[in-house]
Amino acid sequence: MDRYDEIYRQSVEDPETFWRSEAAGIEWQQPFTLVLDDRRAPHLRWFVDGTTNICHNAIDRHLATRAEQTALIYVSTETGTEKTFSYRDLFEEVNRVAAMLVAQGVTHGDRVLLYMPMVPEALFAMLACTRIGAIHSVVFGGFASSSLASRIDDARPKVVLSADAGSRAGKVIPYKPLLDAAINLAKHKPDRVLLLDRGLAAPAMVEGRDLDWASLRRQHFDARVPCTWLESNEPCYILYTSGTTGTPKGVQRDTGGHAVALVASIKYIFDPAAASGEVDAVSGRRTFFAASDIGWVVGHCYIVYAPLLCGMASVMYEGLPTRGLDGEPDAGIWWSLVAKHRVNAMFTAPTAIRVLKKQDPSHLTRHDLASLDALFLAGEPLDEPTARWISEGIGKPILDNYWQTETGWPMLSTQRGIDPTMQPRFGSPGKPVVGFKLRLLDEATNAELAANEKGVLVIAGPLPPGCMSTVWGDDQRFVDTYWSLLDDRSVYSTFDWGIRDDDGYYFILGRTDDVINVAGHRLGTREIEESISGHPDIAETAVVGVADALKGQVAIAFAIVRNAASIGTPQDRLRLEGEVMATVDRSLGALARPARVHFVNALPKTRSGKMLRRALQAVTEGRDPGDLTTIEDPTALEQIRDLLKPPSSTPH
Ligand code: PRX
Repeated sequence: MDRYDEIYRQSVEDPETFWRSEAAGIEWQQPFTLVLDDRRAPHLRWFVDGTTNICHNAIDRHLATRAEQTALIYVSTETGTEKTFSYRDLFEEVNRVAAMLVAQGVTHGDRVLLYMPMVPEALFAMLACTRIGAIHSVVFGGFASSSLASRIDDARPKVVLSADAGSRAGKVIPYKPLLDAAINLAKHKPDRVLLLDRGLAAPAMVEGRDLDWASLRRQHFDARVPCTWLESNEPCYILYTSGTTGTPKGVQRDTGGHAVALVASIKYIFDPAAASGEVDAVSGRRTFFAASDIGWVVGHCYIVYAPLLCGMASVMYEGLPTRGLDGEPDAGIWWSLVAKHRVNAMFTAPTAIRVLKKQDPSHLTRHDLASLDALFLAGEPLDEPTARWISEGIGKPILDNYWQTETGWPMLSTQRGIDPTMQPRFGSPGKPVVGFKLRLLDEATNAELAANEKGVLVIAGPLPPGCMSTVWGDDQRFVDTYWSLLDDRSVYSTFDWGIRDDDGYYFILGRTDDVINVAGHRLGTREIEESISGHPDIAETAVVGVADALKGQVAIAFAIVRNAASIGTPQDRLRLEGEVMATVDRSLGALARPARVHFVNALPKTRSGKMLRRALQAVTEGRDPGDLTTIEDPTALEQIRDLLKPPSSTPH
């Protein structure tokens, strides 16, 4: 048996022993009395009675040995900013924000919602929350008012932290008006909004509710706020993610298990050298660069928590992958940062690489990438041409890894921390990660499948530490959503199709549900449908995700109008299509905007009224829709097929 097989087997056959040993990767204030309590499975408790604090582990703990070492390297090609913060600087900044929150009455267990662009203050604020035992909920800045309002109502934050604006490709995107609109829409009203003014878009302040970040920071400049020790299973954060219903789910993550799992992920997957205390010969530290956003799980884990827990420097980047610090086009910006800051491990989504692929390839070779051990890609399927292109271009291992907001860290990956010779295989994110008991089940019979058979990818319980503990405020929804595939509730469904080859490598073949993945961003088609239905002229709509060469998938909408006369001319159709897109922009954000809105007379449904989404998606992608015996009106799909024909073949 090879080393990987052996360690993996130990981790899943005797999880208590395995995780007891991994728990030594963080400092505990009080030791745990039990590694795993699974009496209420699938609700688990890891490291029962152990008390710890993630901020202590990410910052305070390092002060004795690396106070002057760089902890955060902030780069914004939107504002032309580059700043570094040592662990001591970080300690001071986080204490200030913690004191600002305490002064607003925020205590242990309160929620704090962040609606912020990629600024260092957002990272300080996340850590400040964990310091005082408050539960943060970061909402991606690309989301608009109604998405934000539904999250405010679900998390019921005491305080909201925000900024005047974000910026994309040099264009200022005011956040404050979106936040004000969201608070107006929401039933729950936060007591306070702390607003960071970046000087991008003068914010209108609401008297008595909104406070200026910079003045608060001055007031609390010398503050010291002690860490609140939390029992391991107390929540650290809530992160909303899309599912099949229109209501987003609050993925709740615990404290101890979360920290232990992230440290294990650095050790086994992302930077074994950092975990074993080695440093870069030139920089004297290890440096991690996750080009993601703090609003997504990758940002939570690999911009903020994991690198700091492991005493590394983390690079936080605001901007496009194709723009330089001077605002001029520069497709080599990321590689220049790797060279300048001696980045040892880098992480991004395949979409970003597909964007770079369209640029002059000389940017790949202009910078010295000697420090870089590997490039990690996740969040969407990594197509083989993209993987080969970047692998040949930078001459480094490209390590695809597969996971979800829910799991909190990879479940499939190459694990060089176990076996440095473990090789990736194009098209596969790799083998099961330690702690994850992956199985493939037949969709119809739920029987376990052998190699080379396609099925639903599931995790047999118990889920390892770091995975979601529950749906915030709704334990039953956690069970009903994820654990209802088998009657005994023994497996967690990933809602992904998968297949395993003879050597144990897994391949991910897309979602089994209505979740789509646009440029690595996970979206629920139901949310988009609900938003489109908000347009007064739309009677009914169906949204599907279709393959796209750059973004992986894009949303395409099919809609029935209330009054056919409203789209009598091609100009009318164009106008309404634009209006529908603007409706989605306003309520959900431009990210969710469908690439096209097609107006149709009928949508493909079964006789019992269920939308035939798979058939609709197949036809939109030019594939065979399969079995249509249950369809109510076969002309619905025919009309759509005609509509999608390239213009040259459409008779005028
Ligand atoms: O469908 C899978 C896809 O993204 C989903 C999870 O998205 P999210 O919750 O945003 O978490 C992203 C964390 C990296 C999965 O259910 N997905 C994620 N990684 C991969 C992937 N599909 C194929 N290959 C991957 N490496």
